[in-house]
Amino acid sequence: MSGSGAVNITGGRVVLVVTGSIAAYKACEVLRRLQDRGIEVRVAMTRSATEFVSALTFAALSGHRVLTDCFQDTESEPMAHIRWAERCQAFCVVPATADFLARMAAGIADDFASTLHLAVEAPVLVAPAMEDRMWAHPAVRQNLSTLRSRGVSIVDPATGALASGRQGPGRLAEPTVIVEAITGLLSIAEPIAFLAGRRVLVTAGPTREHLDPVRLLTNPSSGKMGFAMAEAARRHGAEVVLISGPSPLPDPVGVETVRVETASEMAAAVLDRAASVEAVVMAAAVADFRPLNPDGQKIKKLEAGRLMMELVPTGDILEQLASLPGERLVVGFAAETSEVEARAQEKMLRKGCDLMVANRVGVEGGGFESDTNEVVILDRLGGRRPVGPASKAQVAESIWQAVGDFRARRAAVSAPRQPA
Ligand code: CTP
Repeated sequence: MSGSGAVNITGGRVVLVVTGSIAAYKACEVLRRLQDRGIEVRVAMTRSATEFVSALTFAALSGHRVLTDCFQDTESEPMAHIRWAERCQAFCVVPATADFLARMAAGIADDFASTLHLAVEAPVLVAPAMEDRMWAHPAVRQNLSTLRSRGVSIVDPATGALASGRQGPGRLAEPTVIVEAITGLLSIAEPIAFLAGRRVLVTAGPTREHLDPVRLLTNPSSGKMGFAMAEAARRHGAEVVLISGPSPLPDPVGVETVRVETASEMAAAVLDRAASVEAVVMAAAVADFRPLNPDGQKIKKLEAGRLMMELVPTGDILEQLASLPGERLVVGFAAETSEVEARAQEKMLRKGCDLMVANRVGVEGGGFESDTNEVVILDRLGGRRPVGPASKAQVAESIWQAVGDFRARRAAVSAPRQPA
């Protein structure tokens, strides 16, 4: 398999929205780095952003006029918000203030940038920056959750020294990280042909098994990777069924989402639908064991003293999929802490998968709970594609691209030879 994780984009048209944060100057570096990749950038600013960096700076850097208000139409560019929206392949807010996130979530259109936001159909990305207490405020959390459920990509802020002098989460992410995420969005603009109109199934999140009504056996999976896979497939026009274990993430818009709790509920939900789908992606961290005899009543610790409970293996869903009649692509995820690729390769063959995503877990910047991931995608035709570190949305794009490539190569290998 050719290709690497780094998205090598030349070309593309980005609208960069700069809002009023002390980090506004960092948008200049983001703009420059996008231009280095051959991307055309047009800048829209909020009024408060111009208090931090002048519109002239961005006009000079971008080579285009910078718009702030809705009434700056010229004869050559009437209805600028519609013209810009039609040209835009990615709408990126860097930095995004709490105020602008709120206006996006509410659909307010009271200046050029917020009006343009409602007019664009292109993928949207926000890179928030604010003080840690603002970042933690329930209103901000809720607005982010609303935006995420609409498919907006969020580049989470970094943790460190803040303008207020405090330490904490809220610093604008590094320009290199933001640029990687934006180029990832532009690659979304390249269609993955096999997904359009096809039905696919994705699993996500942990599963949990009750020891008694109040105690659980589970794992730290957040569901972010599986949800990103489902959202990416939907963006490419697939009909998506998402089967998720307990995850705090909201149902993605336009995706049929089925919530389950235990490994056996997940198995039943997957196997029920597998016959009608083109591909199954098992991103869920399925519990491997369940208590043989869970207690119907809360176990009293003083009565139990030391607790011994017999655990039995849950059925392996991937292995059951491999033995189902009919044709479908099966993609597994191998969560490993060591010898990641070798173990993933062995799992792919043992479980009869077409592709296996080797995922190191238990490290910072990847695996469970993180917003980013670094993986190697292996396939049973010998393909190997390293991806990341990158946002989970971007990793999801690369995985679907690898699935599409694998499908094409498999068809080429099995096609009858033409007579010479
Ligand atoms: N999986 C599954 N059914 C299970 C357990 C796991 O379908 N009962 C799937 C996962 O969704 C994932 C893949 O198998 O796609 C690999 O899961 P992983 O936890 O890495 O491997 P295990 O098979 O559980 O093996 P081990 O825990 O020994 O590494």
